[in-house]
Amino acid sequence: MNPFSAAFQRAVHFGYLAAVHLPDSKEPVPEAVLAQLDDAEREHALTLSGYRQVDWVGGRLALRGALGAMDRQTPPLLVNNWGAPVLPDNLAGSISHKRTLAVGLVARSRHGSVGIDLEDLSPPRERIAPRVLLPEELAAVEALPPERRWTAIVLRFSMKEAIYKALHPFVHRYVDFKEALVTPDVDCTADVQLRLAKGEGPFRVEARYTWLPGRVLTQVRIREPRPSRPRRRKKRKHSEHRQAERSAEQGGAVANSAAPGTNVDGDESV
Ligand SMILES: CC(C)(COP(=O)(O)OP(=O)(O)OC[C@H]1O[C@@H](n2cnc3c(N)ncnc32)[C@H](O)[C@@H]1OP(=O)(O)O)[C@@H](O)C(=O)NCCC(=O)NCCS
Repeated sequence: MNPFSAAFQRAVHFGYLAAVHLPDSKEPVPEAVLAQLDDAEREHALTLSGYRQVDWVGGRLALRGALGAMDRQTPPLLVNNWGAPVLPDNLAGSISHKRTLAVGLVARSRHGSVGIDLEDLSPPRERIAPRVLLPEELAAVEALPPERRWTAIVLRFSMKEAIYKALHPFVHRYVDFKEALVTPDVDCTADVQLRLAKGEGPFRVEARYTWLPGRVLTQVRIREPRPSRPRRRKKRKHSEHRQAERSAEQGGAVANSAAPGTNVDGDESV
């Protein structure tokens, strides 16, 4: 596997996903690889070193791979004040990297904001559970046989990091792990209930996960609910129209015909 080469690219439920192999090395990223970036990205990459440089470049190449699949001329994909990747307004995107793999997910922003996360399945780190899970989630994990608990924890942990990345553009603040309740289903989706400490929202959250060799990959899409359309008034029946017209011609109130049992002055009839 050549470092920084494409690992896979595919259309997924929430957009287009691309992955790039990373070298497990702190060596500076070769110039030939940096040359695949936009000039401004390359300049940013040169301010980084060690694994951070490798990860950052890998994430950009993955995001560029996903953007390329959407047939885009790619502008520089820099960083906002919170560390999130910056894409053109009409696109939403997210990055994750773990030692030997970087992934990038891109979608059209009119469909919502997206978040992606990659986590290693080993070594197990069950001790993180009380810090990242709500009491209901801990109870669900503890009800499982011991050998299934870690994957249940890391799946929820990864989902929450993907939720954070997708949610951040809406809330612009740190969101704690206890602000989302994640209930994975066996069909590779998960139910997510947000319990946002500052009461933002409502939001529609969709979540999916995939098991990769030795890893879990989670993807989240967050949207604001569609504005509800004003309710259309029911058309009055033709006969009611005629009656209303006759009533108006006779100097009566139209309201009278629409509210049986009420006289022209609006008093309840006896
Ligand atoms: C920011 C955070 C989610 C990154 O996750 P991670 O597992 O450490 O690292 P990953 O490799 O998966 O992701 C790193 C990428 O996340 C992206 N990212 C960083 N901050 C981000 C933000 N505020 N919004 C969106 N994406 C962000 C960046 O693209 C970064 O890669 P890059 O710097 O190379 O471009 C994590 O460090 C964090 O702070 N988590 C705490 C908040 C949280 O998850 N709350 C749960 C709420 S339910």
